[in-house]
Amino acid sequence: MTERVIALVDAGRHKPLPPVTGPAASPAQDRLGRALRDLRISVTDRCNFRCVYCMPKEVFGKDYPYLAHSELLSFEEITRLAKIFVDQGIEKIRLTGGEPLLRRNIERLIEMLAAISLPNGESVELTLTTNASLLAKKARALKDAGLARVTVSLDALDDPTFMAMNDADFPVAKVLAGIDAADAAGLAPVKINMVVKRGVNEHSILPMARRFKGSGHVLRFIEFMDVGATNGWRMDDVIASREIIRMLSEHMPIEPIDPNYPGEVAERWRYRDGSGEIGVISSVTQAFCRSCTRARISTEGMLYTCLFATAGYDFRDLLRGGKSDAEIRAAIAAVWSVRDDRYSEIRSAETAPQRKIEMSYIGG
Ligand code: GTP
Ligand code: 5AD
Ligand code: SF4
Ligand code: SF4
Repeated sequence: MTERVIALVDAGRHKPLPPVTGPAASPAQDRLGRALRDLRISVTDRCNFRCVYCMPKEVFGKDYPYLAHSELLSFEEITRLAKIFVDQGIEKIRLTGGEPLLRRNIERLIEMLAAISLPNGESVELTLTTNASLLAKKARALKDAGLARVTVSLDALDDPTFMAMNDADFPVAKVLAGIDAADAAGLAPVKINMVVKRGVNEHSILPMARRFKGSGHVLRFIEFMDVGATNGWRMDDVIASREIIRMLSEHMPIEPIDPNYPGEVAERWRYRDGSGEIGVISSVTQAFCRSCTRARISTEGMLYTCLFATAGYDFRDLLRGGKSDAEIRAAIAAVWSVRDDRYSEIRSAETAPQRKIEMSYIGG
């Protein structure tokens, strides 16, 4: 087999593609034996919130150099790439941002992606993570376009705490209205992500649990992570999931349940009285790298094999450089086959300040 390097990009945060050694293996496995199953696609690096743990205002001010429109992948480019990824084993696609509903005509992209079928003929599972600021307005159109579910970020139930976290004066009531609209449109079950930061919103854990118990929505508590390089993360700010479970179980009896699928990020618990389930996402205290099947495409078409990567592979260059689908597919397989990421397992006070990509650029 002849070895061929199909692109060499080495501009700061880009990594050269590994050598492509013939046709893509299907399904691809990485160096730690992990398959490629989930694709997260960021459709904009902009957001109308300034969550302190994601886009702190001091860094993401009005002079922040966001990407120009010509730098973003077009809907056609995203769809082409997504189809190739599906041929390479992807079963789930999540649209993220920044705030994905800020991307103009996002419904059109959803229509295009929802039409992709898996090799077995089933449709790809298409979901989206949103701050819900535009959800009440858009839920019906998103559903009609073929979106299956949404995950909504909400960090507190009282305005002072929520506004201190989103730093954009955005009120809780509007997020709740977005959640209701999503539910009414059938984008269910709605999952609700609450990032817990010590000293900031831990007093909201119980009120949030009480509010969504029995609602049919699935609330998930997420440990505050050192994503990016700007959120000033310290281990002292993390409230461990087991502490949250202990706190909840003192007030409402809960029991663990099995994952929905292997490698599920959230550990599931249910209320013993049958009024629904909650989840905890312990990316800091119980890393789940061993079963991580996630790849991420940035807004401008870089492929990242870890949320904590410091560099990505330039797939926009392949898309715009006249490569065939087969060549791009082989490049995906080549990247995946050398992947050995396991950042959350090796995280330490030393790794935290590394110049990692920002979550607003790569998506949750
Ligand atoms: P579904 O099961 O499809 O609902 O998705 P999910 O459980 O993967 O949920 P979601 O994409 O909403 O992820 C929830 C949160 O978990 C994210 O916002 C991140 O904080 C964290 N997370 C998701 N994927 C990863 C990952 O690969 N690594 C780490 N360290 N954290 C992750
Ligand atoms: N730690 C944990 N989760 C985060 N998110 C963003 N930044 C962080 C962080 N520092 C997740 C939240 C939010 C989604 C968009 O990204 O879950 O809901
Ligand atoms: Fe925006 Fe979501 Fe980041 Fe908050 S967490 S700033 S809503 S992208
Ligand atoms: Fe996957 Fe990287 Fe997250 Fe580990 S830290 S679960 S390898 S994205």
